[in-house]
Amino acid sequence: MTASDWDAETYSRVASPQLEWSADVIARLRLHGDETVLDAGCGSGGVTAGLLDVLPRGHVVAVDGSPAMIEAARTRLGNRRVSFHCQDLSELTLDRPVDHAFSNSTFHWIPDHAKLFSRLNRAIRPGGRLVAQCGGPGNVAEIVRGLEIVTREEPFRDDVGELEAPWNFADPDETESRLIAAGFAEPHCWLEKRLAIVDDPQSFVEASCLAPYRERLDQDLFRQFSDRLMEAMGYPENFSYVRLNMDATRGTGQVPAGGPVFNSTGKGERGERE
Ligand SMILES: C[S@@+](CC[C@H](N)C(=O)[O-])C[C@H]1O[C@@H](n2cnc3c(N)ncnc32)[C@H](O)[C@@H]1O
Repeated sequence: MTASDWDAETYSRVASPQLEWSADVIARLRLHGDETVLDAGCGSGGVTAGLLDVLPRGHVVAVDGSPAMIEAARTRLGNRRVSFHCQDLSELTLDRPVDHAFSNSTFHWIPDHAKLFSRLNRAIRPGGRLVAQCGGPGNVAEIVRGLEIVTREEPFRDDVGELEAPWNFADPDETESRLIAAGFAEPHCWLEKRLAIVDDPQSFVEASCLAPYRERLDQDLFRQFSDRLMEAMGYPENFSYVRLNMDATRGTGQVPAGGPVFNSTGKGERGERE
């Protein structure tokens, strides 16, 4: 599945839990303030702004697969110390390596983590770090259960029946193995429970979780779908999240097999940076 377009305006308004949780992830980067850091899945730029705050002399390379999210991030942040790229992270290609890669609330949207980690590994300079948080097993369990019910119902089933749960909630052990296979060293992955307490639960669910459904349903049907989902879940006011954290270092050994990663200068073809 390629990256979906998102409702960036609503996401910016409702995604306060994701913003709040990102602070600990940014702190784990332990930055000096002058580095170049990839924000993998920058969304509408709220979390990216927090990353820029700890990089007063540095730069952010902000990548997202949703044109609406990239546009919202650009409008929010301008071009000072940030470059924006609308790309699928599974196919990530950067002009030059970054010092570190950071990601918040994004990797569970990407089905093939082996490919993702391989792309990230080759986008980071040797010795640089990957620090990320995304959904892990049990994440948004109420929403997953609600979607299992509602996607099978008429009149939604034809359009979204196959989309029961579009998420890849990987566990820490398999993630550590994949990180090593992709060329990362000393991976450390762990789970953490969080509760999302929100002011507007329906808008929160729509903007944080339902982008692939919104894309496949016309406006009226999406409204009905979202109403029915809230009903099937019993109108929750908060949501249980399970976060998968990952910290790893880009190894200095051989680059894993695969095609070239950097796209313009010719530098950074496979193996050149070793
Ligand atoms: C929940 S939002 C998180 C945004 C931001 N990092 C935050 O914490 O608020 C997930 C983001 O991942 C992006 N995304 C999902 N799959 C992607 C992919 N394959 N390539 C690039 N971006 C992707 C979406 O477009 C969306 O902006």
